[in-house]
Amino acid sequence: MERELLASIQDLSVTYHTRIGPVSAVDHISFDIYKGEILGLVGESGCGKSTLGKALLRMIDPPGEISSGHIIFDKEDVMQYDDDRMRDFRGRRASMIFQDPMTSLNPMQRVDDHLIEAIQVHEPKTSEKDALKRSSIMINRLGIGLNRLGSYPHQLSGGMRQRVMTGIGLVLNAELIIADEATTSLDVIVEAKLADQLREIRNEYGVSLLMITHNIALVAEMADRIAVMYAGHIVEIGDVYEVFEKPLHPYTQGLLGSVPSIQLNDRNELFKMPGEPPNLTHPPAGCRFHPRCQHAMPICSQLEPALIKQSSGQSVHCWLYQDHPDKNEKR
Ligand SMILES: Nc1ncnc2c1ncn2[C@@H]1O[C@H](COP(=O)(O)OP(=O)(O)OP(=O)(O)O)[C@@H](O)[C@H]1O
Ligand SMILES: [Mg+2]
Repeated sequence: MERELLASIQDLSVTYHTRIGPVSAVDHISFDIYKGEILGLVGESGCGKSTLGKALLRMIDPPGEISSGHIIFDKEDVMQYDDDRMRDFRGRRASMIFQDPMTSLNPMQRVDDHLIEAIQVHEPKTSEKDALKRSSIMINRLGIGLNRLGSYPHQLSGGMRQRVMTGIGLVLNAELIIADEATTSLDVIVEAKLADQLREIRNEYGVSLLMITHNIALVAEMADRIAVMYAGHIVEIGDVYEVFEKPLHPYTQGLLGSVPSIQLNDRNELFKMPGEPPNLTHPPAGCRFHPRCQHAMPICSQLEPALIKQSSGQSVHCWLYQDHPDKNEKR
C-alpha cells in the first residue's frame, strides 16, 4: 500500500546552549511521518525524544534553539513561518500532549472552557454554541462523561486530564498529534484503554500520531512504525513488524531483546542497557553508540554512518550495514 506523506523532517538539529557548553540533543535527524500512521518514538532517558517532539512544533525555548533543518508539512517549510502562521499551525494542524497534562491545562479553567477556547482561537467565526457542541461530541468520544465538561483539572483523574488534552488536539482536526509519554503516569488498565481509544480515533479521523514513550510493549501493540533514538540520532526506523522481527542496529537489538525479561521499574522503563548514555556536550566521535557497542569496528569511532534503507525494509544508522574500507575487520 502506498503511504501518503504528511511531514518530512530534514536535517533537523537542536542545540541547548548551556554553561558547560552546547548540548547536541537532536543531531541532523531526517525522517518522514505518513498520514494516518502511529509512529512510536523510543529510546533511553535523555536521548532527545521530547526535544525532537517539541522541535516539530518549533517549541524549543532558550537556552535551546533549532540549529539546522527543515520541517516540510504539506509541501511548506514550517521553519519559514512567521509567528502568526506558527501560532495557527500549532493547535490547528499539529499539537502536542505533554508528559504532565497538569502543567498544560489551566487550573482556573473548566474542561469546556479549554475546548471552546481552543476552537475559537483558531476558528474565530465559530459560535460558542457550535464550539460547545463539537467539544461535547469529542469528550464523549474519548469516554469522558458529559457531566465532566464543568469540571476543573484538579477534579479529574490523571487519565481524564490526558484525554482532555487529547480532545483539545483532536477537536481542531489536527493532522498530527505528538503524545509525549501520554500514558506513562497511568495504570496499565487505563493505559490500555486510552491506547485503544487513540487507535480508534486514528482510524476514524485519519490523524497521525507520534507516540513518544519508554513503553516498548505499547509501541509493539499500537504503532505502525517505530523509530529508535540514541543520543540525538534516529538509529533505526521501520515498520513495527520488521523491526521487532529482525532488529538491525545493535542498540535496537539490546533494547528489544531485553523486553520480555525485564519488569517495569517505577519510571515504566522497560530496559536498561549496560554502560552509560553519552554526555551530549561531548558526544563520542563517529557513531555515538560505538563505546557501548559489542560490534564496534575502527571506522565506528571515526566516521558517522548514514541512516540508510535496507532491503529488509527498515532504515538503519550503522556501519555494519554499509560499505567501508575496514569492513569485516573486528577491533
Ligand atoms: N532546557 C534544557 N537545557 C539544557 N539541556 C536540556 C534542556 N532540555 C533538555 N536538555 C538536554 O537535552 C537532552 C535531551 O533531552 P530530552 O528531554 O529531549 O530527552 P528525552 O529523551 O525526552 O528524555 P526522557 O525519556 O527522560 O523524557 C538531554 O541531554 C537533556 O539534558
Ligand atoms: Mg522526554
